[in-house]
Amino acid sequence: MLKGKDVLNTAQFSLQELNLIMNTAANFEKRVKSGEIIRNMEGQVVASLFFEPSTRTRLSFETAINRLGARVITVANAASSSASKGETLTDTIRTVDGYVDVIVMRHPMKGSAQIAADNAKHPFINAGDGSGQHPTQALLDIFTIRKEKGALGGQIVTFVGDLKYGRTVHSLSYFMTLYGNKMFFISPKSLRMPSEITADLRSRGAEIEETEDLKKALSVSDIVYVTRIQKERFKDLAEYEKVKGSYIINRAIINQAKKGITILHPLPRVDEISTDVDNYEGAAYFRQAHNGVYIRMALLALVTGRT
Ligand code: CP
Repeated sequence: MLKGKDVLNTAQFSLQELNLIMNTAANFEKRVKSGEIIRNMEGQVVASLFFEPSTRTRLSFETAINRLGARVITVANAASSSASKGETLTDTIRTVDGYVDVIVMRHPMKGSAQIAADNAKHPFINAGDGSGQHPTQALLDIFTIRKEKGALGGQIVTFVGDLKYGRTVHSLSYFMTLYGNKMFFISPKSLRMPSEITADLRSRGAEIEETEDLKKALSVSDIVYVTRIQKERFKDLAEYEKVKGSYIINRAIINQAKKGITILHPLPRVDEISTDVDNYEGAAYFRQAHNGVYIRMALLALVTGRT
């Protein structure tokens, strides 16, 4: 179903494909945890190209590659590649495509994933394109929701933080719409969800409420998805200073929220979730980061047909 395909955004997936990805991930999780040495991708090489900083996405992809028995070549930062000498993305991708079986790439430019995929014959996986999309994060987010809540539908989800530049919320909101979940969008006015995204989500049947009333939204929400204000995307740092620290989730706020609320965050966090929340049992963000390995194993195996 996914063999030979690119992974570019979340709107591309059907429910059937999402079930396949999550079931494949669950199977890999079981196999890894049982201590099995997995060799599904033995003999294959994967390029891990990160032109923008990353801890979780790069390292969980590279862990997934190693756990599948494949090998990895990597660009861990733009300065160490010929992009720093002025090479175009198109030329870089056409070159790397000749070396490997799959390309994974993070790049600061929105739309770069499509350009790369158009210039690669092998499957291409978007690991985050600027303020655009981060589909593999959204896949691990729903894998986490399924594990934490036992179901993907019937949830009320509050997204809070930087909804303008936060590519993870752009991606996950499409999945939440597909599963019929109501969404609250909470952000400073200057960082609201882009209107083209809310319009597109509504055209797909989404129930969305944009509000600044965090307390009210959390009193009815099953999940709160917190995001960092994306300092690196601001052209004017004075604008960042005005909005930083706008919404901080601490233990007192969680104590007033709906009982059993699950807290997700793609990480890294700065100060938007206080550390006094970390020992709350519904604080799932480190479990969420761990789930990235199994989702990325599933994607790599599926696009190469090595399941
Ligand atoms: N969630 C996420 O994309 O984290 P990194 O930036 O560390 O990869």
